[in-house]
Amino acid sequence: LSDTSVGRAKPDFLVGVFDSGVGGLSVLQALRKQLPGANYVYLGDTARLPYGTKSDRTVIDYALQATHHLVSHDVDALVVACNTASSVALPAIQSAYPGIPVFGVVDPGARAACRASRTRRIAVVATESTVLGGAYQKAIFAECSSARVTARACPLLVTLAEEGWMGNPLRQALVDAYVKPWLRSSGAVDTLLLGCTHFPLLGALFRQAVPAGVQLVDSAETTAREVAGELGSRSRLTGSAQVRFLSTDDAARFARIGGWFLGAPISEQQVTLIDL
Ligand code: DGL
Repeated sequence: LSDTSVGRAKPDFLVGVFDSGVGGLSVLQALRKQLPGANYVYLGDTARLPYGTKSDRTVIDYALQATHHLVSHDVDALVVACNTASSVALPAIQSAYPGIPVFGVVDPGARAACRASRTRRIAVVATESTVLGGAYQKAIFAECSSARVTARACPLLVTLAEEGWMGNPLRQALVDAYVKPWLRSSGAVDTLLLGCTHFPLLGALFRQAVPAGVQLVDSAETTAREVAGELGSRSRLTGSAQVRFLSTDDAARFARIGGWFLGAPISEQQVTLIDL
């Protein structure tokens, strides 16, 4: 018998990153900094965004389809860089692929909020599905049981983040409309957790909308640090943070809007259209 693997280098460590759209690119960016020795394949299911207004059943189906696709690229690990999918589909993904480490963004986000908050009064903005399912509320209580959590669904802000509208005062007005009356009626909080991958792009608008002294936290950096901590020590990391982009709709739009979230330009030619 000949061993065909003799002399063939093992491919570089490949991390699959998945989001309903382009928001997860902010998590990807943080991962590339924290784990530069891996390569990445990023899948944005832009054809079916938003996930945040859909039922759990639908989100689980979509998330499993995206995972199957990434597994067909032979990924060594998977990061679910979508709060909605992390909230409802993580156990289904983990039990479908028990051999692959799967990371979500909700638990790291909850840990970041608990570390940031001194008063344990934490506010969370997220999609409808994430808020109604109580994922962040549960994750924060698991981390710090004395916390008091208030959560607000802000579905229009997903669209706003993708619209751009830089310099348009309607952007601030919309964030204010969601945040200001809610926080006034919730009592004093000292931390606002941005529990949706689209919201870090609106960070400056949230900053304006909350009282001075309230800290803004998101899960991108914490997730990336936790993933790097887990994988960095036990993986052969010979990659160079290269990325392949996969999109289920309109490569040009993915490239244009995705560049804002990634913080670096993406060309249309770098994006491969796929069906799930
Ligand atoms: N990526 C989603 C999340 O983080 C936001 C967009 C959507 O609703 O699909 O919850």
